[in-house]
Amino acid sequence: MHSFTQALVLGMAAAATAYPRSGRIMKRDTCILDTVIDPATSTEVAASINQWFSDVTTVNSFLNDVASGAQGLGTSIQQRASSVFVSAADEPCQLKTLSSISDLQGVTDAFTCAVSDLEDVFELHVLDNLQNIINNPNSTSVVTAAVQDINNFRCCNVLPDASILWLDAADDSGISNQVPTCAPREDACSSITCQPSCALDNGVFGSSVSSC
Ligand SMILES: *[C@@H]1O[C@H](CO)[C@@H](O)[C@H](O)[C@H]1NC(C)=O
Repeated sequence: MHSFTQALVLGMAAAATAYPRSGRIMKRDTCILDTVIDPATSTEVAASINQWFSDVTTVNSFLNDVASGAQGLGTSIQQRASSVFVSAADEPCQLKTLSSISDLQGVTDAFTCAVSDLEDVFELHVLDNLQNIINNPNSTSVVTAAVQDINNFRCCNVLPDASILWLDAADDSGISNQVPTCAPREDACSSITCQPSCALDNGVFGSSVSSC
């Protein structure tokens, strides 16, 4: 586990470099909650998981409104997608926090797979698609294709991956009964059939990508 001395040494090492951070906190324009490198306390881990959960539910609500027809096109979807983009762009900030837990007990293949999968797919299949919607809010075909691709990659990759990270990080910090350990799915996941990109810690793939 972390000790106060360890945190102090890490803080001093960071101060001695030219990185634009103060101590373990990395400030980026796109973060709602700043990344904490090597989070030392369970409070920091909990804050990161709770923020990521909140980001996920904001994106889910948008995708559900598009699927149900409640979300129109034009200025309405442009503004909504811009605001959803802010939440989505925060998710990599929390990924960076959770993936930097250096003393994660028995880091698993599932954890490593989930981090690397998110780094591969998130920008291309979530952020870039949201940007396409913002740039082409009047185009039914652009919006439909973008939302379909977001749904495919959130249901099969992003949300199962996030669930692995939340559970492992929460377990390691002894807070798995205090924070969400499964990322809620948007409605569209119930009609998407796929094998999640990363196997769970027990070596098997989750039987369902459609719900927690
Ligand atoms: C979308 O359509 C509206 C009204 O027809 C128009 O004012 C607006 O400029 C269009 N937006 C884009 C990005 O093409």
